[in-house]
Amino acid sequence: MFASLGFLFAILSIARCVPVQQAASRDKVLLVSFDGFRWNYDQDVDTPNLDAMAAEGVKARYMTPAFVTLTSPCHFTLLTGKYLENHGVIHNMWFNTSTGVKMPYYVTQGIDSWWDNGSLPIWITAQRQGLKTGSIYFPGGKAKYQGEEVYMKLVEPPIFNYSNEVNWRQNIDTVMEWFTVKNLDFIALYFGEPDSTGHKYGPESEQRKAIVSQVDRTIGYLRRRIRESGLEPNLNLIITSDHGMETVIKDKEVHIGAVENFTFSDIQFELLDYGPNGLLIPKEGKLEHVYSVLKNAHPKLHVYKKEEFPKRFHYANNPRITPLLMYSDPGYVIHGRFKVQFNKGEHGFDNEAMNMKTIFRAVGPAFKQGLLAEPFESVNVYALLCELLGIVPEPNDGSLEVLRPLLRECPADGCGNTDI
Ligand SMILES: *[C@@H]1O[C@H](CO)[C@@H](O)[C@H](O)[C@H]1NC(C)=O
Ligand SMILES: *[C@@H]1O[C@H](CO)[C@@H](O)[C@H](O)[C@H]1NC(C)=O
Ligand SMILES: *[C@@H]1O[C@H](CO)[C@@H](O)[C@H](O)[C@H]1NC(C)=O
Ligand SMILES: *[C@@H]1O[C@H](CO)[C@@H](O)[C@H](O)[C@H]1NC(C)=O
Ligand SMILES: [Zn+2]
Repeated sequence: MFASLGFLFAILSIARCVPVQQAASRDKVLLVSFDGFRWNYDQDVDTPNLDAMAAEGVKARYMTPAFVTLTSPCHFTLLTGKYLENHGVIHNMWFNTSTGVKMPYYVTQGIDSWWDNGSLPIWITAQRQGLKTGSIYFPGGKAKYQGEEVYMKLVEPPIFNYSNEVNWRQNIDTVMEWFTVKNLDFIALYFGEPDSTGHKYGPESEQRKAIVSQVDRTIGYLRRRIRESGLEPNLNLIITSDHGMETVIKDKEVHIGAVENFTFSDIQFELLDYGPNGLLIPKEGKLEHVYSVLKNAHPKLHVYKKEEFPKRFHYANNPRITPLLMYSDPGYVIHGRFKVQFNKGEHGFDNEAMNMKTIFRAVGPAFKQGLLAEPFESVNVYALLCELLGIVPEPNDGSLEVLRPLLRECPADGCGNTDI
């Protein structure tokens, strides 16, 4: 204990002696994601810490995620500023359409080639420009990109209780240590709630309200630790999420296996039973037939040929998307051969549906105080992160201009990092 304190003081005093230019006041950034935090979850729960953060910083009315509204794809949009069709992480599951092999969320985190598909997450871009970065449980944080990986990382254990508040506080303490002792510039921190509870009990449940209270307590703890660590004057804190949550409707369900004249013997590859999204490759010569039997099979089901998928989703124009794809309306999940989905809450739906919208909050030296911002799309967060870190972004689908109104006015000689 005393030894490690001594070590900490030693590091801090060394840090104080480095030349001013090098120790320059590059502000740090902490990006926090609470998975599946719907935009209005703070409206039926007392959230004093989120409210204080809004009063001292910026709160967006809501943020529109990318489509499909799934965890890994939407987090990768935050990290790259690209829509799914442009970053390639089009699903939570890795799959091979020739062999039919599919890997679940956790395994897919470790498959480099799934993530490293031509786009660099902000960690790597920042490191190439001389910064130090970290990731705690953040989707995409386990993979290597062009052989490079985030400098400091914690990866979720395979069997993991997402709601353990003790673990949440330990991870926050780790973030503080990485900023103060390891002098990291950027850390992305992920929590698997309120998503897990929203799936299990539904977004309108008492359990969901209780976990939102826990999220709020955790934000209180986080901001207290930021103050105690002396980081408050030069840390920009962003709290956001990947998507919202919708109550699953259990009658008149969409069941592909039960559609008249449809047979799985016409199908070469299928990815179904994953909320409201489906991917299909019909066998040679069967595409028109499969399309014609599915397209009007259910009033809540939308089936498209890849080229005809609505452009507003920015989803289908990618080699990983199959010749046929489908999605269903809010509340309806797509069952395949058998009914194997039993969640009470689900996401993956149209990103224009209000229940898929999510949160964006920010506080720190770069942000205005007490601003309620108009809604924006999550592809724009990346450009903001790059601006805050003073790094040159990779090509992306967002624009700094969209979020510039959140930032304080800059003096004539520039805004902190931008000149470094
Ligand atoms: C899928 O599997 C086939 C056959 O094993 C292999 O040739 C191909 O490279 C694999 N594709 C991907 C993307 O892993
Ligand atoms: C992206 O992945 C697909 C296969 O899933 C592959 O064909 C393509 O070459 C990859 N692109 C890049 C830039 O890695
Ligand atoms: C997860 O942890 C929380 C808090 O420690 C506990 O209340 C809950 O029962 C745990 N859940 C499981 C499935 O172990
Ligand atoms: C199913 O196929 C049969 C035989 O071709 C046809 O008569 C019937 O109209 C089809 N039903 C639907 C819903 O397409
Ligand atoms: Zn999620």
